[in-house]
Amino acid sequence: MGWLYFEVGWRDMILLTGASGGIGEEIVDSLMKIDEVLGIYNKTVPKTSPENKLTYEKLNIENSEEIKMFADKWGPKLSKISLVHMAGYKVDNLVGNCSDSDWDKVMNINLRGNFLLSKAFLPYMVRQRWGRIVHISSTGGMEGAPGTLTYSTSKTGLIGMSRVFAKEYARFNITSNVLVLGTFETGMFESLQDDMKKAILDKIPSKTFGKVSNIANAIDFLIKSEYVNASVINIDGGM
Ligand SMILES: NC(=O)c1ccc[n+]([C@@H]2O[C@H](COP(=O)([O-])OP(=O)(O)OC[C@H]3O[C@@H](n4cnc5c(N)ncnc54)[C@H](OP(=O)(O)O)[C@@H]3O)[C@@H](O)[C@H]2O)c1
Repeated sequence: MGWLYFEVGWRDMILLTGASGGIGEEIVDSLMKIDEVLGIYNKTVPKTSPENKLTYEKLNIENSEEIKMFADKWGPKLSKISLVHMAGYKVDNLVGNCSDSDWDKVMNINLRGNFLLSKAFLPYMVRQRWGRIVHISSTGGMEGAPGTLTYSTSKTGLIGMSRVFAKEYARFNITSNVLVLGTFETGMFESLQDDMKKAILDKIPSKTFGKVSNIANAIDFLIKSEYVNASVINIDGGM
C-alpha cells in the first residue's frame, strides 16, 4: 500500500530551500507539523537528522540542469507542493564597488533560483490544481540602505516576480506570496557587527528581534489560504 501511495504521486510536501541555513534549520520542526518536508541545501550539510517526515537533498539553485533533474525526480511523486524559497545570499556592496561577479552571484541565488525552481515545479502544481509558492524578502533589503545594492535589488525584485506568478497561475489554485522578514537572531544576522545589531534594534518598534516561530506561522497560514495571493506580508515587529 505504501509503495502504491508513493508511486501515484500523493505525497503532500513542503520543499524548503535554505534548509541548512539559520532560519531553515530552526523552522523545519514547525513545518513538519504541517506536511512532509524536503529540505534543500547546497554546501552545508544540515545538523538536523532526516526522519519520517523529513528528507534532505542537495541542490545548487544556481544550476539550471540540477534543478531540472531535481524536478524530474520529485515532481511526479508529489501531490500538494508548497515551495518555500528560503535560500538566500548576501554580499555587501556600494554601487561603485559592486563587481559583475557579485551582482551575478546574488541575482542567481536570490532571484533566478526562485524563478527556475518555481518554473520547474509549476507544471506539476498545475496538474494537481494546487500549489503554494512563498518567497522570502527582507525589511532591510526593502529599505535600500547604502552598501546593500545587490541584496536590496534582489529582495525587492522578488515582489514583482511573485505578483506575476500569482496573477498567471491563480486560476489553477496556485498562490504566490512574499514574506518580508525583519531581523531574526540567526543565520545572516550572525555576521552583523554589534553596533549594527544595536542600530537595527533601536529602529524596531517592538524593541525585540523576531522569533522564527512567527515565520512558520505565516507559512502555515499561506499554505492553508487559497485566497491569499500576490500578497506581501511583513514579519518585522512593526518596522
Ligand atoms: N536572518 C535574518 O535576520 C533575515 C532577515 C531578513 C531576511 N532573511 C532571509 O531569510 C532567508 C534565510 O536567511 P538565513 O539568515 O537563514 O541565511 P543563511 O543562514 O545564510 O542561510 C542561507 C541558506 O541559503 C542556502 N543557499 C545559498 N546559496 C545556495 C545555492 N546556490 N543553492 C542552494 N541553496 C543555497 C544556504 O545553503 P548552503 O549553506 O548549504 O550553501 C543556506 O541554507 C534568506 O533569504 C534571507 O535573505 C533573513
